[in-house]
Amino acid sequence: MQIIDGRRIAAEIKAEIRAEVEQLAAEGKRLPQLAAIIVGSDGASQTYVANKEKACGECGFKSQVLRFADSITEKELLDAIARLNADGEVDGFIVQLPLPRHISEQRVVEAIDPKKDVDGFHPVNVGRMTIGLPAYVSATPAGIKELLLRCGIATSGKRCVVLGRSNIVGRPLMNLLSQKDTPGDCTVTVCHSRTRNIKEICRTADIIVAALGSPEFLTADMVADGAVVIDVGTTRVPAADAKSGFRLKGDVKYDEVAPKCSYITPVPGGVGPMTIVSLMKNTLKAYKKEVYGS
Ligand code: GUN
Repeated sequence: MQIIDGRRIAAEIKAEIRAEVEQLAAEGKRLPQLAAIIVGSDGASQTYVANKEKACGECGFKSQVLRFADSITEKELLDAIARLNADGEVDGFIVQLPLPRHISEQRVVEAIDPKKDVDGFHPVNVGRMTIGLPAYVSATPAGIKELLLRCGIATSGKRCVVLGRSNIVGRPLMNLLSQKDTPGDCTVTVCHSRTRNIKEICRTADIIVAALGSPEFLTADMVADGAVVIDVGTTRVPAADAKSGFRLKGDVKYDEVAPKCSYITPVPGGVGPMTIVSLMKNTLKAYKKEVYGS
């Protein structure tokens, strides 16, 4: 059994990005810049945005965070997005989700210029990704593909079960892993809360991606010997002995599942660091205009 070290692989990729950015700086060019909008004070969102800012520093990018109170109106938020769309110094930006209930996430996401949508949430990017056109691919699925690639895990012809049908992980991953690509060429089954015989379906899988947000959902009896298990779960559970007062729990009952696997990602330190590094890769792509060409 091999534990996939997402932190090490993410550090490798950040070093590759940094080398490229240092080259740009040496040529006197403008540096890539990522901006983030955050609304309110949700703890998890604050941590995610702080981690993104830190990763920008590690990659040599410029970054800025625009913070707004929960009371911001949708119009004010849309105006802030319009300013970032028009700012020639900002290559890409994200609006951290979730947003307060009085703001439509869909309207907000659709207000982002698809060329700057480095989260890959805009319907234009989702649509382009779905039919295999160049697109910004959302960070978690892109990070999982990168892990599979860098670990040399063969995917062609393999049976892959994706647990969870979210718009930002399950659905794009189902699409990407079934595409004619490396990694890809999988036979993918998506399971969700209404799926029957989930245990039997999981047991047929060469690769299982658990992205339900249900701590320790995947147990040893659901996993075939030698399977690859990728755990996307990051639920905060209270932990009196942890400094922060909580601990991150994955969707996999790690201690009993790991011995059966050929490869498994831990939580934390598996998919999480890869998600952030994928956002950095998308920002560099935006800077280089690699996706849309202008
Ligand atoms: N909230 C949880 N994950 C994400 C993410 O990847 N991007 C944004 N913008 N918000 C999130």
